Amino acid sequence: MPKPVLYPAILSKSYKDYAYKIRESTKHFKGVHIDVMDGKFVRNKTYSDMKKIRELRPKKIFFDIHLMVKDPISAILEWADIGDRFLVHVESCDNIPAVVQLVKGMQKKIGLVVNPKTPVSKVYSYLKDIDAVMIMSIVPGKSGQPFIPSTLRKVRALKKRNEKFHIAIDGGVNTDTFGDIIAAGVDTFSIGSFIWSGKPLGALKKELLSSL
Ligand code: DX5
Ligand code: ZN
Repeated sequence: MPKPVLYPAILSKSYKDYAYKIRESTKHFKGVHIDVMDGKFVRNKTYSDMKKIRELRPKKIFFDIHLMVKDPISAILEWADIGDRFLVHVESCDNIPAVVQLVKGMQKKIGLVVNPKTPVSKVYSYLKDIDAVMIMSIVPGKSGQPFIPSTLRKVRALKKRNEKFHIAIDGGVNTDTFGDIIAAGVDTFSIGSFIWSGKPLGALKKELLSSL
């Protein structure tokens, strides 16, 4: 089994919180999952001072940008020089091929995201062209919600397609759910409330990996 890729989920509403989470994540992880919310696609709005975000971007860390926004194209252009991979909700997109082309043209990676109520078959025709599919295992909008186990059916269906793309999951990852998620075939995990529980990040990472 390949080593699971773990990214702290950074859902911040202030500079202080954003800066702290970036700094801590960089010490223990190779990448971060940045939650971007516009207050329209979801009710919450995240910290969005792009000048400061740019200044705070550590050089050698992977930036996985989860766009929970109504207008993904504008957001991709805004985050173009910061993001390494863009995770775009199929629910926010009326022209998926255009978004895929835009991101690939920027030499960046593209992933499509499906909400708990969205059928995973919505991404099937793009699997050859994209780097990842991310399954939402909670309703997007906030962290700390319980994991929805039925979403793992989508992971298993994707696994059966036998094509080359990553399967990521977002929401409710912790020591109770990690094993089942891995067994279903997920390789990339974004982890919010579990990692920001107040304990040292290194210890939490170990705790998660040893829960298998
Ligand atoms: C929810 C965000 C998630 C969230 C994960 O809208 O996309 O990335 O921060 O938090 P937990 O791990 O607490 O579910
Ligand atoms: Zn997210």
